[in-house]
Amino acid sequence: MERTIVIIKPDGVRRGLVGEILSRFEKKGFKIRALKMIRLSREQAEKLYDIHFGKSFFNDLVNYMTSGPVVAVILEGDNAVNAVRLMIGPTDGSKAPPGTIRGDYSLSIRENVIHASDSIDRVEHEVSVIFKPEEIYDD
Ligand code: CMP
Repeated sequence: MERTIVIIKPDGVRRGLVGEILSRFEKKGFKIRALKMIRLSREQAEKLYDIHFGKSFFNDLVNYMTSGPVVAVILEGDNAVNAVRLMIGPTDGSKAPPGTIRGDYSLSIRENVIHASDSIDRVEHEVSVIFKPEEIYDD
């Protein structure tokens, strides 16, 4: 069984999409192994997105991600990293196919409702930015 982390971003929380998004993952068959509402510090947001440091959108991205609470969730299921990426759709909401979370709820390349890890290595890194080991449940 594989685990991944998703983060419902401040726009998703503000717009009341938390229940709808969690419901999609539960109906798909993923198990929720951890769940937390948290306002990220600048340091956490910068660590979370360290691979984008230096890019033109980095500062705006950190401002956006710290603009309000997010909901972070660890999901477990077969092929979780890829399966969740398929469910959320490509980065730019205006180009994401209908039926994906971004395709259904976003028209923006930045305010795209949700983040999901893109590899197993990134899952470990991103989980460590947000969760303590004792906040993750096995069964
Ligand atoms: P995410 O999948 O969380 O990974 C990096 C985030 O940076 C991305 O979603 C968007 O929120 C944001 N992002 C990526 N590319 C751009 C861009 N070209 N302009 C603005 N924001 C971007």
